[in-house]
Amino acid sequence: MDQDIFYQFPKIQFLTHFPDLNIELWIMREDQNHPEISGNKLRKLYGHLEKIKRLSTSNKPRLITFGGAYSNHIAAGAAAAEILGCASLGIIRGEELANNTAQSKTLRLAQNKGMDFLFVSREAYRNKDELQRRVSSFIPDAYWIPEGGTSLECLEGFNFLKALDLTNFTHLCSASATGGSLAGYSQLLNKNQKYIGYQVVTNNLILSTIKELNPVNFDQIEVRDARWGGYAKKHMAIEKIINIFDKDYSIPLEPVYTAKMFASLLQDIEEGRYKNGSKILAIHTGGLQGR
Ligand SMILES: Cc1ncc(COP(=O)(O)O)c(C=O)c1O
Repeated sequence: MDQDIFYQFPKIQFLTHFPDLNIELWIMREDQNHPEISGNKLRKLYGHLEKIKRLSTSNKPRLITFGGAYSNHIAAGAAAAEILGCASLGIIRGEELANNTAQSKTLRLAQNKGMDFLFVSREAYRNKDELQRRVSSFIPDAYWIPEGGTSLECLEGFNFLKALDLTNFTHLCSASATGGSLAGYSQLLNKNQKYIGYQVVTNNLILSTIKELNPVNFDQIEVRDARWGGYAKKHMAIEKIINIFDKDYSIPLEPVYTAKMFASLLQDIEEGRYKNGSKILAIHTGGLQGR
């Protein structure tokens, strides 16, 4: 993989200000960091990909990972495997599209990158250890990436960003699901800053995951609800935010993560949850294949 991709600073751009509250909102364009493994995915997969490179001498392991039929992680994992020259397998939650992969753009993209799929029932999907045990018995030469890429390995890819000067900001925030990205990006905090994770999916383990991955900054982190009717559910307010960002800023958002973060963040600002003088940096975590 071309290492230069990892060593380019993302653009940080001013979005808007709220003069009555003396609050400024800025955006970090992680969505622009790679055309296929964009945003948080590039950061989270880096450590895994480096490990695969270290492990594979002559025989490349098969990259195996988990995700839904519309998961950005599946699309990114397939693209990463192709770049590394590895075969890949996606274990997909739900069997509805088993005979109709063309219906999901994500699965089409992943298939074009050479990924094979194993569709499993939602019930079987819940027990990933058992799935891994069964699949390992017929694919022993595998490198397993957990769902969303979230594990200790995922932290390595955020290290380079520590060289960014973010001292002017009072808050960083991003959309959150498994918590891996939040743990990674919150490593950039200095001790006076706060990190707000906007949680787009119900996940009772989020705080323990973050604490395990980044105990150092844990006290500076807060997670707020940004589900807007449920994971991947449509919502008028979310459609509206996407249109405003398209029209006013020419910044594309997608409906599952980044638009929900901005909808909740703007609501929080309007309802006074950020104090006067705040300077907020919202991280655009990409995922635009899901748009
Ligand atoms: C675009 C986007 N933003 C944010 C997230 C949340 O990342 P995490 O699962 O690391 O919390 C995801 C996860 O899949 C994503 O695709």
